[in-house]
Amino acid sequence: MAENEDGTFTLFFMITAEQISKNSIPAHVAIIMDGNGRWAKAKGLDRSEGHRFGAEAVKKVVRAAGKIGVKYLTLYAFSSENWNRPQAEVDAIMDLLVYMIQRETPELMENSVRLLAIGEIDRLTPDAQKSLQETIDTTSGNTGLTLVLALSYSSKREILSAVRKISSDVSIGKFSVDDIDESTIETALFTSGMPDPDLLIRTSGEQRISNFLLWQIAYSEFYFTKTYWPDFDEQSFFEAIYQYQNRERRFGLTGDQLTTNSNFTE
Ligand code: FPP
Repeated sequence: MAENEDGTFTLFFMITAEQISKNSIPAHVAIIMDGNGRWAKAKGLDRSEGHRFGAEAVKKVVRAAGKIGVKYLTLYAFSSENWNRPQAEVDAIMDLLVYMIQRETPELMENSVRLLAIGEIDRLTPDAQKSLQETIDTTSGNTGLTLVLALSYSSKREILSAVRKISSDVSIGKFSVDDIDESTIETALFTSGMPDPDLLIRTSGEQRISNFLLWQIAYSEFYFTKTYWPDFDEQSFFEAIYQYQNRERRFGLTGDQLTTNSNFTE
């Protein structure tokens, strides 16, 4: 283990699935997959190659998450802002999405992975919407990992859409303003019914949230790594989980309260 300039530590030993405590597996891990373009550039490749290799990293991480019993894995695959990228890159990502969903559906079925999507899905290409819906339907009965793809996703727009829905319900007398509480908002978000992320990972060295799950990450642990997404693999994932398991989550309480009243802990 080596100390970094910022006082954090980098692990140099391998973390295996066996070293991960079965008692504190995060129920929900969310990942901002970043660095595909820089990974490709460093290798003299086109950005689309970065996305292609990034899609293979998705496969590795879905397997790793399933292996240790993570219940929800949410991947930020395409933001609302990503529509402003060059059209050729947008097309390449959409084509890749369709290809991967179709190619991987049999493996999702074998491993009992359920697919869901959050975001403004109706903005995706008709092909992408169709493949996505087919696989969501095919995998709907699966009981293992739930893989959530955030596509054409913007957290601010998600919150805006929730506000509109709640306002409309109030205007037709479904409930009154005084009845609105946190659960009303949670139910109106795209993530309704999912636990909040326990752990948020961002790859590529960037340390920002980029309009991702702003409401839901109120008490998430953050893990930033310099690894570019296409190089992120099972080992990288286990290292993030291991570090998460060595954090103390206090949810606004003191450390002493946590040790004297275990009801407060996760
Ligand atoms: C961020 O890297 C990555 C994206 C915007 C696209 C992510 C897409 C995939 C991983 C492939 C398809 C996904 C699935 C779920 C099969 P970047 O392009 O912003 O990298 P940069 O910051 O280095 O330019």
